[in-house]
Amino acid sequence: MGRVVLVTGGAGYVGSHTVVELLKADHTVIVVDNCVNAAKATEGDGLPPALERVQKITGKTLTFHELSLLNRQALVNVFSKYKVDVVIHLAALKAVGESVEKPLAYYANNITGTLNLLEVMSEVGVKSLIFSSSATVYGVPQYLPADEKHPTGVGVTNPYGQTKYVCEQIMKDLAIADKDWRIVLLRYFNPVGSHESGLIGEDPNGIPNNLVPYISQVAIGRRPHVNVFGNDYSTPDGTGVRDYIHVVDLALGHEVAIAKIFQPDFTGAKAYNLGTGMGISVLEMINAFSKACGKEIPYKIVGRREGDVATVVASCALAEKELNWKATRGLDQMCEDTWRWQRLNPNGFS
Ligand code: UFG
Repeated sequence: MGRVVLVTGGAGYVGSHTVVELLKADHTVIVVDNCVNAAKATEGDGLPPALERVQKITGKTLTFHELSLLNRQALVNVFSKYKVDVVIHLAALKAVGESVEKPLAYYANNITGTLNLLEVMSEVGVKSLIFSSSATVYGVPQYLPADEKHPTGVGVTNPYGQTKYVCEQIMKDLAIADKDWRIVLLRYFNPVGSHESGLIGEDPNGIPNNLVPYISQVAIGRRPHVNVFGNDYSTPDGTGVRDYIHVVDLALGHEVAIAKIFQPDFTGAKAYNLGTGMGISVLEMINAFSKACGKEIPYKIVGRREGDVATVVASCALAEKELNWKATRGLDQMCEDTWRWQRLNPNGFS
């Protein structure tokens, strides 16, 4: 059944891919985004390019409002215009390193923004929410693969991670206090890849912080080589191991979460890991990307990056059991799809 879905941060990387899947599933989509981390519309009141392309991919239309969640009145105005069934809340600042330098910006945007959203939703009686959380809430994993019972908030090393943990806590408390709230917390592992059309993808501002966008910019010639942050970890090849998930699989996770939230017996706030359960090292990723783009990717081994851990891998059994969701796209497809996007859009959306 088609729902009216308001997506905060819907013009971004995960957001645009999620909106594609929502439109394909016949939901009505309203996007709000302040576009700090997404290309803006070229004309005053047009759509950001990522959302123009979402419409092209799906042949369907969506509604867009440029606004910050810090602007509470603007949020009230948007909610008064539509009969929203469920909110997917993705809007947040997300660069780990930057969060250490600008903690106040991170706490204000991610926590105050979320509080504004939850307050306005309460006032208008929209109490169904899917939240974009992160494996970062597990801190340094105490056991692997990390399942949803793993302690959270212990050893979280940066303000970005703290904001995700605190937002989860706020939502859990809210669901205890008011039984009408239905909340799904989706803990993403490492999203990579792009839509198969090559029309939308990750378009980081400045120097990419994350491995795959960095490799991709080396492959297209925008950067000379990849810096591999350490090869002395206790992993098979010494480089960091992560659970990379194709962004389309991740997007589909939001779609099934909507179905879950509207099941009559669903209550409270419930967390699900979205990953593949498969660990991939930095060198394995570089090799797979080389294969996908047909060129050598030059790299240099450099020192460890502060705050990194050897291995983070998800247990996704709960999502499989309760959401009937499982990632199906493998490493080769992650690299091929990233490369198609990069090759067709060497400078991203600009
Ligand atoms: N790496 C490099 N060189 C780079 C970038 C990364 O060697 O230029 C390595 C890292 O050391 C790590 C792996 O590649 O071993 C993945 O690093 P990313 O920066 O791509 O991803 P992280 O696992 O560090 O972080 C991601 C998200 C965070 C989130 C975290 C949760 O970016 O938002 O997963 O586990 F909090």
